[in-house]
Amino acid sequence: MKISGKTILLTGGSEGIGFELARLLKDENTVIICGRNADKLAQAKKALPEIVTISADLSVAAQRNTLVDRVLSDFPQTSVLINNAGGRQVIDPQKRCGVEDALYSDFELNVLAPVLLCENFLPHFRSQGAATIVNITTGLIFLPKASYPFYCAAKAALHSYTQSLRWSLRATPIRVHEVILPLVNTPFHKGQLPGTVRAMDAAQAASLCLKELTRGTEEISIGKARLARQLAFLFPRKGISLINRI
Ligand SMILES: NC(=O)c1ccc[n+]([C@@H]2O[C@H](COP(=O)([O-])OP(=O)(O)OC[C@H]3O[C@@H](n4cnc5c(N)ncnc54)[C@H](OP(=O)(O)O)[C@@H]3O)[C@@H](O)[C@H]2O)c1
Repeated sequence: MKISGKTILLTGGSEGIGFELARLLKDENTVIICGRNADKLAQAKKALPEIVTISADLSVAAQRNTLVDRVLSDFPQTSVLINNAGGRQVIDPQKRCGVEDALYSDFELNVLAPVLLCENFLPHFRSQGAATIVNITTGLIFLPKASYPFYCAAKAALHSYTQSLRWSLRATPIRVHEVILPLVNTPFHKGQLPGTVRAMDAAQAASLCLKELTRGTEEISIGKARLARQLAFLFPRKGISLINRI
């Protein structure tokens, strides 16, 4: 995909990997980002004045629908959707307190929101000629971590849906990509990055992601996410044990 002259909805671009993607894409495209926190959106806009910011909590159906309506009415030329916003709830694998809230929260943000955005934009994309959907997942779809089981399960569901969607749209000009990320140093970890594995820099992750998208790679595994897939296939027990010791 040539990524220039496009109008792109990039969810959760106010910080982390999304912000770095916005930084790389903004010069040659119209980039619309969204997030919940108005201060973070204002800071992103200050750093990248070219981008458009829209406040929306994607876990809330009414706010998600308002976002879709606003993008379609104000930016009808939108032809790229990057489902980047994500988050995780950590639980104690032994005590298992708060599992119901964590389950709903992780599935709403990491499956329902991206899937419904895909489905809501599809009719519009079908009328656009060509369009691109990018769903961001994680190497933990192959080797889940017990301390955030619902995040891992939700991303695994998004992975499966992305494969089905790609197959369904194979005869259309709508391309469906997935970016499977390794550990990346972003605010996602709330300052608690595991010390045993070196996290990738967010700017590097964004740059590798765009390089592969430009090449047309459908399923993009970045850095150690490739290793997670191989480990899960060859040595699943060892793989789960390793990932849960990090
Ligand atoms: N960092 C990693 O190690 C890693 C590894 C594998 C995969 N990933 C995936 O990569 C993607 C980006 O992660 P990141 O590390 O860049 O995360 P991040 O630094 O925590 O940034 C998350 C972005 O999403 C927005 N967001 C979160 N919840 C939202 C909601 N309910 N509605 C709207 N926006 C929301 C945040 O803004 P607000 O807080 O203002 O809403 C922020 O802009 C996620 O899908 C994540 O699962 C990350």
